[in-house]
Amino acid sequence: MPVEFLGIAATHDGSEITPRSGAAFDKEYTLRLARAHEEHGWDRVLFAYGSGSPDPAPAAAYIASRLDRLQILLAHRPNVSYPTFAAKTFATLDQISEGRLTVHFITGGNDREQGREGDVLTKDERYARTREYIRIVKKIWTTHEPFDHEGEHYRFHDFVSDVFPVQQPRPNVSFGGSSPAAYAAGGAEADIYCLWGEPLERTAEQIEAVKAAARAAGRTDVPRIQVAFRPIIAPTEELAWDKAHRTVGAIKARRERGEAITKRHNGQAQPQNTGSQRLIAIAEAGERYDRALWTPTAAATGGAGNSNALVGTPETVAQALLDYYDLGVDILSARGYDLLGDAIDFGRHVIPIVREEVAKRDAERAAHGTQTLAAVHG
Ligand SMILES: Cc1cc2nc3c(=O)[nH]c(=O)nc-3n(C[C@H](O)[C@H](O)[C@H](O)COP(=O)(O)O)c2cc1C
Repeated sequence: MPVEFLGIAATHDGSEITPRSGAAFDKEYTLRLARAHEEHGWDRVLFAYGSGSPDPAPAAAYIASRLDRLQILLAHRPNVSYPTFAAKTFATLDQISEGRLTVHFITGGNDREQGREGDVLTKDERYARTREYIRIVKKIWTTHEPFDHEGEHYRFHDFVSDVFPVQQPRPNVSFGGSSPAAYAAGGAEADIYCLWGEPLERTAEQIEAVKAAARAAGRTDVPRIQVAFRPIIAPTEELAWDKAHRTVGAIKARRERGEAITKRHNGQAQPQNTGSQRLIAIAEAGERYDRALWTPTAAATGGAGNSNALVGTPETVAQALLDYYDLGVDILSARGYDLLGDAIDFGRHVIPIVREEVAKRDAERAAHGTQTLAAVHG
């Protein structure tokens, strides 16, 4: 199976190691970063969502209208909109991008962050709402006759959209979360299930949980799996490890100065979402795992989302990513601490190695399959 690379569509140059240099929506930087991804071998970029952050949907429309190939992954929180409205936004965006949209449905892992935009449901209730919401959006994307909906969270009558996606039958649905309620909802509805990078063994456990949830929901297929990391690469192992230690030093220094390093996770002593709790527990149990996974970046941010690093030369990091590919992960998400420079370096030096090795593995598998078939047919 081919492998895909997801990068980040930030709207400014700030990261955990450095405050942003301009406004939250820096139009020129947004385009420069997205273009760097498109020109350096990436497939798609994530437009993330935070309560106070620039609205990712128009930002995605802007990028789609300026670039021809880069695909867009739009994060969307159900609590901020009605599903009929959102389905039309997505269909319009799929038209603008000529079929390059995937929607990442976010349930929200933190009550306080959800409360900032009026969401008062508990996390498990939120997952039930997300599930209903995704089903409605899928139906609107594919239904050409007016219909009624009577659900737990939404009720409406006589709705039909007049705008449909380019992608048929519909754009892909992406989903993230590591709690049992997340596996149940995403296992049932997602085309792509997103995980934050953990050691191989723990990732394999999560993949199994997602597959089991998909089977329990009566599906005959399973979601594709995406895993996210923070690569720290340099020309030699020694230089990469120096850079890794400098990175953690910069994160800690900012925290000690009381700076908010990530807006969404701002001001939380203990994260409420299972995914972040897992990252913290893994970091407490050890700094290094497998070939190149390094947890102090996750520990220093309090398990703030995608935060485990892969450290080493491009060759080492590529081999580490291939270990995940061999586990069944076919979408690799990566974001450096210098968003623009690292998108270029990773695209130049890591992506080609992974793609080449994946092509070799696939060719071997195909040849093996042909041999097996020839043996069967005598
Ligand atoms: C790849 C990925 C991207 C995510 N992007 C966002 C985002 O942009 N905004 C947000 O609020 N949550 C985001 N999340 C958080 C999840 O969607 C989800 O709300 C949270 O992890 C639920 O917590 P749980 O682990 O307890 O189920 C993302 C998660 C993943 C795995």
